[in-house]
Amino acid sequence: MYNVKEVVPDIWWVGASDRRIELFENVYPVPDGMSYNSYVILDSKTCLMDGVDDSVTRQFMDNLEHVLAGRTLDYMVVQHMEPDHCSAIPMLLDRFPSLKIVGSAKAVQMISSFYHIDVDAVIIKEGDTLELGSHTLNFVAAPMVHWPEVMVTFDSLSGSLFSADAFGSFGAVGGNLYADEVNWERDWADEARRYYVNIVGKYGAQVTALLKKASALDIKNILPLHGHVWRKDLSTITDRYAKWASYTPEKSSVAIFYGSVYGNTANAAEILAMKLGDLGVSDVRVYDVSKTDTSELVSRAFEYSTLVFMSATYNAEIFDPMHAFLTDLKNHNLSGRKTGLVENGSWAPMANKKMAEIISSMKNMEIVEPSVSLMSSVDESSLDALSSLAQALV
Ligand code: FEO
Repeated sequence: MYNVKEVVPDIWWVGASDRRIELFENVYPVPDGMSYNSYVILDSKTCLMDGVDDSVTRQFMDNLEHVLAGRTLDYMVVQHMEPDHCSAIPMLLDRFPSLKIVGSAKAVQMISSFYHIDVDAVIIKEGDTLELGSHTLNFVAAPMVHWPEVMVTFDSLSGSLFSADAFGSFGAVGGNLYADEVNWERDWADEARRYYVNIVGKYGAQVTALLKKASALDIKNILPLHGHVWRKDLSTITDRYAKWASYTPEKSSVAIFYGSVYGNTANAAEILAMKLGDLGVSDVRVYDVSKTDTSELVSRAFEYSTLVFMSATYNAEIFDPMHAFLTDLKNHNLSGRKTGLVENGSWAPMANKKMAEIISSMKNMEIVEPSVSLMSSVDESSLDALSSLAQALV
């Protein structure tokens, strides 16, 4: 049965949520599921703005048929040709044989790569428009937000920005499609950050370029492909994006990340956290990198100004989960953080040297002294060294 909503006059949400999914992109845990937004514009011509993931295609097709109410589908704008938004293209072409696919040249080429079909395509580029009747769609290139083919679309009549993956979030959206109908700061900001950082965090320069183009538009609504529709307080999300895209921390405080085999590095992490608290640092966070998913660790590293990495030495290297985390931080282009290092080893501690190599290869990262080296467990002299590190960090 259909489940739809007119989110902006003439613009209908026909998406769906998947609450069974465990891992988005088969890598990111989504304990609260995932939403896939798709929109239909009803005008002299009918136009679908992207589609949905395979997992919710049946619901999507029911929704689409209901909103069209017997009309044909004239256009499908493929802003982003990733399969979580495009799986229904072959089905849509069967159902609506005269359907025209509107997308960048790269998007149309990708349709062929994924589905081995020819489509009746309208190739668009930055500055092109598509008249639907009273609505005119204006296309804006947004390469690498999140793939190279991405375009976003501005409907000048309603002031709606169809923003593709930008401004989305992890989590199924049910009941309240608008961000102003939920406590977004309390319940959604962390998942929006984790989504941003892990999906497009690497491409801060490209996101900044998109934000600059968007600032020239009179945007009244933001309609992303995941998460909530924004119709009020748009700066809540756009200001966050400006920070995330420029790798500016949201919080001036310390996040401690430790990799511990037998609990002694963990003990040092808790001691350091206590010392920071004693020095007046609020909102200190401590994470066990073996237990916390890397997507959450990377997200917190984007949030915090000061990061401490504490690792056991393992096979003369960084402890594996810490190594994976640091590699991910580098791959996401994190920059401009103050960092502290603590290593542990029972005969030849090596982790600080190896961690410093990775951190030094990232942009504008400072490693404060002293770096601390533990021999198996914290003793009186390493307590003093942890105190010195805490003081240097603040
Ligand atoms: Fe939601 Fe990059 O796809």
